[in-house]
Amino acid sequence: MAIKMDYDSKGKLLTEKVELVPEGTGLVEGKVTLITGATLGIGLAMATLFAQHRAKVIITGIEEEIGKYNAQFLRDCGCEVTYYNANAFYRNEIHDLFEEIRKTYGRIDILINSAGYNIPAHFMEATESQYRQLMGIHGLAHVYTLQEAIPMMQKQGGGVVLEFGSKSSDRPGDYDPFYCMAKAGVKLMSKSLNMEFGPDNIRINCICPGPTITGMTQDNDGNIVPAFAKGGPVLKQTSLRKIAMPIDIAKAALIICSDYAGYVAGLTYNVDGGIVI
Ligand SMILES: NC(=O)c1ccc[n+]([C@@H]2O[C@H](COP(=O)([O-])OP(=O)(O)OC[C@H]3O[C@@H](n4cnc5c(N)ncnc54)[C@H](O)[C@@H]3O)[C@@H](O)[C@H]2O)c1
Repeated sequence: MAIKMDYDSKGKLLTEKVELVPEGTGLVEGKVTLITGATLGIGLAMATLFAQHRAKVIITGIEEEIGKYNAQFLRDCGCEVTYYNANAFYRNEIHDLFEEIRKTYGRIDILINSAGYNIPAHFMEATESQYRQLMGIHGLAHVYTLQEAIPMMQKQGGGVVLEFGSKSSDRPGDYDPFYCMAKAGVKLMSKSLNMEFGPDNIRINCICPGPTITGMTQDNDGNIVPAFAKGGPVLKQTSLRKIAMPIDIAKAALIICSDYAGYVAGLTYNVDGGIVI
């Protein structure tokens, strides 16, 4: 089963035009927003939606050509989106990214740590490299951006952080022990950080998406992998009997990061069609 994505097989946005909301009505208008892992998938949907709501969006990722193309496309539609080629694994690249943000904007209002992936493997066959990759991208990589963003937010009097866990933060899938370990950690780390930095007016929450149609749930030909397809076990776990599109997760992220959720801190949002209940 193939499902039409928002972007083509090379990751380039397919939309003809992206409309901005009228000036003065953007839910995150003027907010300097960094979204890691936003060349594709959920990150790209958030970048598009936040930009439509007039945020100043910086996206990162590792697919440079796609990231540049999509940022330019959104700029041509009147959005403020910049791509920065920063690999989340390297502290120096993240530091350079933040130097650029400090120079260009002088602040950061919203940090969304979305970069990530899974490497499913049977436990007894899993390699040390797989373990290090998953703990790295969902562990240290978050620490690098947080340790840059939090001091800036403290200095400017506040900010918003949105972490990305998974339904695997609570409920394991098939053959994903390392992914579960990492994603459960992200969820609890965000709660711990909330206790430490809430008094600085920094709201830290965590979204745990359910199965969503992105590169993570499709094979190279764009077909949904069997577990997520119609009749597959994952779909049956959702009470809505639906797999999400990236925009479904992006809409929840927009509300959580906006002032409409100004008194919401330290929460986990299971945006998963009713899997973790
Ligand atoms: N798709 C799902 O079903 C699902 C479910 C639960 C949680 N999630 C989580 O949501 C987040 C987004 O996933 P997605 O489905 O949009 O994935 P995706 O594969 O569509 O996109 C992954 C993004 O991460 C970036 N990335 C990967 N490695 C990177 C690195 N080293 N440095 C910087 N960027 C890097 C890629 O460039 C890309 O932009 C991830 O944290 C994922 O674990 C996804």
